[in-house]
Parts: sequence; structure tokens; C-alpha cells
Amino acid sequence: MKKMLSVIVMLAFVLCAVTAHAGHGDAKPVKKGILLVGFGTSEASAKVSFVNIEKKVAQAFPDVPIAWAYTSHIIRHKLAKQGEVILSPAQALAKMMDEGFTHVAVQSLHTIPGEEYQALVQTVQGFKGMPDGFERLILGYPMLGAQDTVSTAVDAILATLPKDRKSNEAVVLMGHGTPHPANIYYSALNWQLQLKDPNIIMGTVEGYPGLDEVMAFLGKGNFKKVWLIPFMSVAGDHAKNDMAGDEDDSWKSRLEKKGFKCQAVLKGTAEYDEFAAIWIGQLKTAFGHL
Ligand code: CO
Repeated sequence: MKKMLSVIVMLAFVLCAVTAHAGHGDAKPVKKGILLVGFGTSEASAKVSFVNIEKKVAQAFPDVPIAWAYTSHIIRHKLAKQGEVILSPAQALAKMMDEGFTHVAVQSLHTIPGEEYQALVQTVQGFKGMPDGFERLILGYPMLGAQDTVSTAVDAILATLPKDRKSNEAVVLMGHGTPHPANIYYSALNWQLQLKDPNIIMGTVEGYPGLDEVMAFLGKGNFKKVWLIPFMSVAGDHAKNDMAGDEDDSWKSRLEKKGFKCQAVLKGTAEYDEFAAIWIGQLKTAFGHL
């Protein structure tokens, strides 16, 4: 009996402590939001990718406010000089916190879980410990986040190939590439792609496989024509210049020098519904955990 009494007294203390805490008036009404985070682009014409993604997100989550952030500070600073202010993920989260958002799904619009994504993981982690911060903060995987998304991305690549491409013509995709271990995704994509279409290869501008490996692959085939297609969310500087530019060292120039007829497609993956659907799928999973 005495023991039970002390349990009751203890419970009463705990309850008092809880009500006293809640009594500070910080029981905020639930406010859900979405933060879309891309690498960014300074090319006005490449913005169509982000416009398309935002349209698709708004369709999937009609009543949820959508905010934006770019992870590239170089691009943000470049845009700021032109009078366009885009926030960093940390600035955008601080603003959402200040605006009273309680549940936020952050969606990475990156392609692989590389450096930019890992930095975003750390930023999101930092915001989880904030006093008076979000009740729930969840980060969605980039396009490629698990094995199943690699096969989905392969299907999206095949579904979005130019209609005019004949099966005996080579397709060279240009991924970004990175020294980060996540670079391995490009080889994973190559493996699955070539099981379905042996005349496609994924190269990268800044990682492995590079143009030398792509050329070695093309040299083994009997190709006359090569399609050049960016495998990046936006068709920005890399696609326009490094891939399809007229400079001597562009992929197009170097392949033409080897005798291939080249045709470039200047569209980012986020412009296609097939790829946008993968990011939206990741966001749905994240939002479902709020
Ligand atoms: Co780059």
C-alpha cells in the first residue's frame, strides 16, 4: 500500500512536470511542409527541370507548401550577384522553423547519395536537435538510393531514349561522377543497362568511367552514330559545354574526331516524367514517415 502511494505521488510529480512544460504555450499547431533541395543551376534554360519537379510535387501534395534550397554555394553566390536569392538548406530550414513548420520532409533532388547528399544528411541531423524546432524532420533519398531505384532508373533511361535512335546506334550517357564512394552507382547502372541494351554506356565527367573508357567501349563495337545524352537532373554547363560543346575537348568533338557521327540531346533527367516519378516516390516515402 505504501509502495503504491509512493508510485502515485511520483506519477503526480511527473504529470506536474509535463503540464508545467506544456504550459509554456509552445504546443504548436501541426504545419507540414516540403523542402526541395537540388544542386542548383545558374543556366536559366536548365531551370525547366526544377520547374517540372515542382509541378509534379505540387500535384502529389496539393495542400503542402513547397520551399527550395540549392546545395551549391558557388551557384547560389552567382545567382545572388544577378539578384536572385536562393537559400542554402540550412537557411531554408531555419526559415521554415521560424515560420512555424512542425513536420518537414526534405527531398534531395540529387542523382546519387554522394558528397552533396551527405552534407544534406548532416544539415538535417543538426536541425533535429534544435530547441523549439521541428517535431519531425525526414530526409528523402536522392534518385538512386537503393537497389530497386537502380532498376527503376534503368527503365526510365530506356523509356526516354530518343524515338529516332536505332538499336545499332550507340548511346553515351554523361553522368556527373565524383571521388565519393557513391560513384559506384554509375557502374551499377552500366551493368543493368547493358543487360537490357548492350549498345548503351554511362560515362561521367568527373569520375569513373570517363571518356577514355567510353571510347574503348565504342571502339569494340561497329558504331557509326553516337547519341549523347546527359544523365544529370539539369542540362546545364556540363551538358552544354563538356558534352555537346564545340570546344576541342568536349565529348562530341573528341568522338567526332574518331569518326563517329554525334547527336546530342540537351534535356535534364528531371524534365522527364519517368525520372521525376522516382524522386516523387522517394518524397512520398519520406513524407509518409512524418
Ligand atoms: Co560539376
